[in-house]
Amino acid sequence: MLTSYEAFSQEIEETLGQQLTDPSEVINVFEMEAVAREKIPPAHYGYLSTGVDGDITLRANRAGFTRFQIKPRRLVDVSQPDLSINVLGAQADSPIFICPVGSHGGFNAEAESGVARAAAAKNHHMTLSTQSSTPIERVVEERGGPIWFQLYPTNRWEYTVAMLQRAERAGATAVALTIDLPAGRNVETQSIFMRQDNRTCSDCHRGQAKPIFDGLDMQGVGLNDPSLTWDVIGRIKEVTDMKVLIKGIEVGIDASLAIENGADGIWVSNHGGRATEVDRGSIECLPEIVSAVNSRAPIIIDSGFRRGTDIYKALAMGASAVGIGRPYIWGLGAFGQAGVERVLDLLNRELLITMQGSGTPTVDSIGPDYVLDAGYRVPRGRLGRDLY
Ligand SMILES: Cc1cc2nc3c(=O)[nH]c(=O)nc-3n(C[C@H](O)[C@H](O)[C@H](O)COP(=O)(O)O)c2cc1C
Repeated sequence: MLTSYEAFSQEIEETLGQQLTDPSEVINVFEMEAVAREKIPPAHYGYLSTGVDGDITLRANRAGFTRFQIKPRRLVDVSQPDLSINVLGAQADSPIFICPVGSHGGFNAEAESGVARAAAAKNHHMTLSTQSSTPIERVVEERGGPIWFQLYPTNRWEYTVAMLQRAERAGATAVALTIDLPAGRNVETQSIFMRQDNRTCSDCHRGQAKPIFDGLDMQGVGLNDPSLTWDVIGRIKEVTDMKVLIKGIEVGIDASLAIENGADGIWVSNHGGRATEVDRGSIECLPEIVSAVNSRAPIIIDSGFRRGTDIYKALAMGASAVGIGRPYIWGLGAFGQAGVERVLDLLNRELLITMQGSGTPTVDSIGPDYVLDAGYRVPRGRLGRDLY
């Protein structure tokens, strides 16, 4: 027998996605997910939502935030708030940036073009995936300004060089080398969702390579190279003038090694719980990385950020910017470009309220004095949604 509160909660859960038909009605990114889930085909939703193994890291990414508490200061003039940032020459009106997510075309026909237009409308920074469904040249045009390019190095170095040089010609100002998937992963939640989809995958997925590989013979070419070691940073720098960030750093010693080998920026990430099942939230990795980097390079972070308060905590702990993956794809899947814009608006508003409420009107003013490591607490979320 359900209590009246449980019955009410269940009813809200069941009808949430169906009732919201206009982006402006959506009040947070969790609601946006509910709308998107109604619209994205099950197999693609599985690809989007999956973690690895038992999705423990995916959940740890959310639970990790409860360990850190915000310490607000009062009676500070916060009448002129400013969320703008500049990381490695990338200027943006918000510290929240668009992470590389593969195959936007599987979520909405507007694909990466719609996301780039939303990023342009709100002046948010964007990094484009190697696995983009849309050619990089078109994305740069839609963004109307420089983007960063995310690189999965292939197992053929001359192809990696060709991609880097194409991205640089297209106008990318930095490359983010993703290093957390050297040899595949175990995506069980994705497999479970695929069983619910009665379409035949091969009807659409005909083995065609993504646009970044146009003109390259992809026979026998893999998107990861298990033999890579730290000297890859120097090899990349020999063939491009783009700045180099290393995406997928989870421990301090690797952050140091990346910098010692020439990296310009550190990208803390566990790939949204989609790489190694580490059971540790991305935000929990940040303190040891900030300490190891010791101001030698900018640090950016992603994985599990769903609230303005999450973003605020990372900025206070030493990150220069915070990436979102699934949340903007929920917006894309739900309403195309308008949904992405709504997600950015919602998170910006939450962050702004947190900044003003904490006595920190600018991103630079948010520092370690505004956050406390309180150890683990039991996570509590309305309807349990905030947990994922
Ligand atoms: C569906 C999906 C596809 C992704 N594709 C890529 C990719 O092509 N390259 C990459 O470096 N990271 C990829 N990521 C990881 C994101 O860049 C980012 O690290 C992660 O989504 C952040 O976590 P969040 O989804 O919890 O916000 C992908 C993530 C998702 C959810």
